[in-house]
Amino acid sequence: MSKFVIEGGTKLRGKVNIGGFKNAAVAIIPATILCHGNCILQNIPKIEDVKVFEEILTELGAKVEFLDDTTMSIDASNIQDCYLKNGLSKKMRASYYLLGAGLGRFKKASTLIPGGCDIGMRPIDQHIKGFEALGATVEITSDGRINVQAEKLVGSKIYLDVVSVGATINIMLAAVYAEGKTTIENAAKEPHIVDTANFLNSMGADVKGAGTDVIRINGVKELTGCTYNVIPDQIEAGTYMIAAAATKGDIIIDDIIPKHLEPITAKLKEMGMGIEEYGDSMRIFYEKELIPVNIQTLPYPGFPTDLQQPMTVLLSSLVGESIVVEGVSEDRFKYVNEIKKMGADIKFTNKYAKIKGTNKLKGTVVQATDLRAGAALIIAGLIAEGLTEITDIYHIDRGYEHIENKFMNLGAKIRRVKEEE
Ligand code: EPZ
Repeated sequence: MSKFVIEGGTKLRGKVNIGGFKNAAVAIIPATILCHGNCILQNIPKIEDVKVFEEILTELGAKVEFLDDTTMSIDASNIQDCYLKNGLSKKMRASYYLLGAGLGRFKKASTLIPGGCDIGMRPIDQHIKGFEALGATVEITSDGRINVQAEKLVGSKIYLDVVSVGATINIMLAAVYAEGKTTIENAAKEPHIVDTANFLNSMGADVKGAGTDVIRINGVKELTGCTYNVIPDQIEAGTYMIAAAATKGDIIIDDIIPKHLEPITAKLKEMGMGIEEYGDSMRIFYEKELIPVNIQTLPYPGFPTDLQQPMTVLLSSLVGESIVVEGVSEDRFKYVNEIKKMGADIKFTNKYAKIKGTNKLKGTVVQATDLRAGAALIIAGLIAEGLTEITDIYHIDRGYEHIENKFMNLGAKIRRVKEEE
C-alpha cells in the first residue's frame, strides 16, 4: 500500500500532456472481442483499469501485447467464449462491457457483478433492458453472477429511462451483429460514446448518430481488425485545469480536444480564470481573484460528474458561498468528510453541497474514497498549509496515469511513499 505526501503552497507552472481517455479505452478494449482480427489501439492510458482488462482478455484467450508505452495490440480471434471465471470483473465498473461484447459475438456472456467507485447504487437495469429488447435473457444468480444469452439477436427500438453512458455503449456492442436495425433513444452523448462508435465503425460496423440522443445501428455480418487512436482524457485535462485554478497557477495543457472541455472551460472562465485555446492545447492561467459559482452536474454536454469532486475543493478554497448539485451520480459527496478534516466548511446531502469558502485548508491525513475523490484530495493538498497525506491511492492509480510525475513536472511537491517507509 502506498500513499501520497504533498507539501502545499506551490503555484503550478509548466506543461502537462494528457493521455488517452480512460472511459473510452475501457469500452474500446473489450469491444475488440467483437472482431475476428488484430486491433492496434493507440493512445491507451497507462492506468490500472487497462492492466485489469489486459489480464481479463488474456484470461479469455486473446493475444494481448503492448507495442510501446501507449499502443496495445489485441487479437481476440481465438477467444472461444466470454465466460469470466475469476473475480477480475469485480475490480472495475467497465467489466460490464464484457456482457455486451460477449453477447454480440458469442450470443452469451457471464461475469461477476462489476465493481468500481462507490458513488451510489449504480444499477444496470437499462443495460439489461437493452439486452432483453434484442432478444437475450438475463439472469443474476444469488452468488452475484450475471449471465446473458440469446438464441439470436434481433434489432429493436430501445428507449433508455435514464441517460446512461454504460447502457448506451453496452447496447451498441450487443447490437453490432443483431439482425436489422437497432435504435437507442435518449442515448448518452459523451465524447467516449462517439469514440466507441467510431472504433466500431473502423472495424466495419454500421453505427450512426453517436453524439446525439438517437443512435441507429444496422447489424453487419463481420468486423475486422483496424488501427484506432483513442481520444484524449477530458476528465484528466479538467483535473489539471482545476488544479491550476486552485493553485493560482499558469499551465499549458497539451494533447487535448478543447471542444470536449467546453463545460469546464465555461465555468472556469466564469470564475475569472484566463484561458487561451490553441489547436490541441490550452493555456489556463490565474489573472484575478476567483469568484465562487454554482455548479450542477449533468450528462454531457453538462458539467461532468467526474469533475464535481475537484471542483468542490476549488470552490471550498474561495471566499464566498456556492452550491454544487450532483445531477448524475446517486451518492457522490462522501469524500466531503475528508476535505472537512482539512478545514473546509461544507454542508451536504447525497445530492447537494453548500460550500462556505475558506482560504485556509490545512494539511492532514485523508483517505481517497474513490478515484475522483482522490484527485480532489491531491488538489486540496496542493493548496493546504503544511503536509497532506492521502491514503488508499490505488483508487487514483485506477484512472490517472503517472499522476505524481505530471504534478511534479508542474512544480508540485508530491511524492509517493510506500506505507512501511
Ligand atoms: C460512466 O459510468 C463512467 N464510467 C463514470 O466514470 C461516470 O461517472 C459516468 O459514466 C457518468 O458520466 C465508465 O465509463 C467506466 P451511467 P456509468 O450509466 O456508465 C444511473 C469515473 O470517475 N443508471 O452513465 O456506470 C446510474 O445509477 C467514473 O471515471 C441507472 O439507473 O454511468 C447513474 O446515476 C465513475 N440504470 C446514472 O444513471 C442503469 O442501467 C448515470 O450512470 C445505468 C445507469
